Amino acid sequence: MTAERLIDVKGLRKTFKQGLFIRRTVEAVKGIDFDVKRREIFGFLGPNGAGKTTTIKMLTGLIAPTSGEALLFGQRVPSAEARKNIGFLPENPYVFPYLTPREFITMSGNLSGMRGSKLARRTIEVLDRVGILYAADRQVRALSKGMLQRTGLAAALVADPEMLILDEPMSGLDPVGRKEVRDLIFSERDQGRTIFFSTHILGDVEAMCDRVTILRKGEVVVSGEIRELLRGDVLKTDILVAKLSDEGKASLSEAGFTVETRPGLSLISVTGEGAVGKVLRIALAADAEVVEVTPHRETLEDLFMKKAL
Ligand SMILES: Nc1ncnc2c1ncn2[C@@H]1O[C@H](COP(=O)(O)OP(=O)(O)O)[C@@H](O)[C@H]1O
Ligand SMILES: [Mg+2]
Repeated sequence: MTAERLIDVKGLRKTFKQGLFIRRTVEAVKGIDFDVKRREIFGFLGPNGAGKTTTIKMLTGLIAPTSGEALLFGQRVPSAEARKNIGFLPENPYVFPYLTPREFITMSGNLSGMRGSKLARRTIEVLDRVGILYAADRQVRALSKGMLQRTGLAAALVADPEMLILDEPMSGLDPVGRKEVRDLIFSERDQGRTIFFSTHILGDVEAMCDRVTILRKGEVVVSGEIRELLRGDVLKTDILVAKLSDEGKASLSEAGFTVETRPGLSLISVTGEGAVGKVLRIALAADAEVVEVTPHRETLEDLFMKKAL
């Protein structure tokens, strides 16, 4: 059965037709494949305009695919049955301005068939979980973008769905808010949920996802387990030393290394086998102090740039 694959997408395409007289078509999604397994944190990445939101709209049944197949919980979309197991945060969640977060979450719960004191308790629980219980009874129009985003997240959680589909959950948040959303995603997964989320900020998610698919102009450019993708070799190593004498600098230059000056420090960036040891031996022999040795590996950004060209 498809039970372990909560999302299964094959050859999915979406073409938008625009203009009444001069027909223009936009190929937003050009036949993509990916799948999301139970209890995964899956990152759906790519720059603005890559086709992430369009794909998510097809998955959640907001728009119909032009062709291809998208299965949710083994059922072809749009499936009202599968939709019940999903908590969805849209890209720009619309929250009625004159409602309070408590009222909005209660309304979302109602739409999922929840009622009474159980819903009231669950509303408080999810508002607390996303960190806005203190603002539960303020009108939404007085809330910041970050608080709106959290209200949207609480609405996605209220019915205790098996899977969360979050479109840019970190957008509009400051670094602290982004970290809080990351922690929330981790803890929801620990409680057994599957999380599928999109983002255009590649660097934000390297330490988060089990697997990723990176889109560019409607096509998949990179796909796989993050550990596999980022397993690559060390690209360069930065060596920071203090108290490097002029003789020390001269010996390093003689040995073919470039010494850059930083406030109170010297930076030597090296590549290739044995270079780190050579630099350290020369620096130490010149009585310098080694402050930091930092290896740099390929990032998702690097990988994307490489594959996207
Ligand atoms: N309703 C629409 N009509 C026409 N073009 C659209 C529509 N929605 C999205 N697009 C286009 O499809 C492409 C992908 O958009 P989108 O899925 O929103 O990207 P992302 O979410 O990755 O930023 C863009 O070029 C966008 O302009
Ligand atoms: Mg989008």
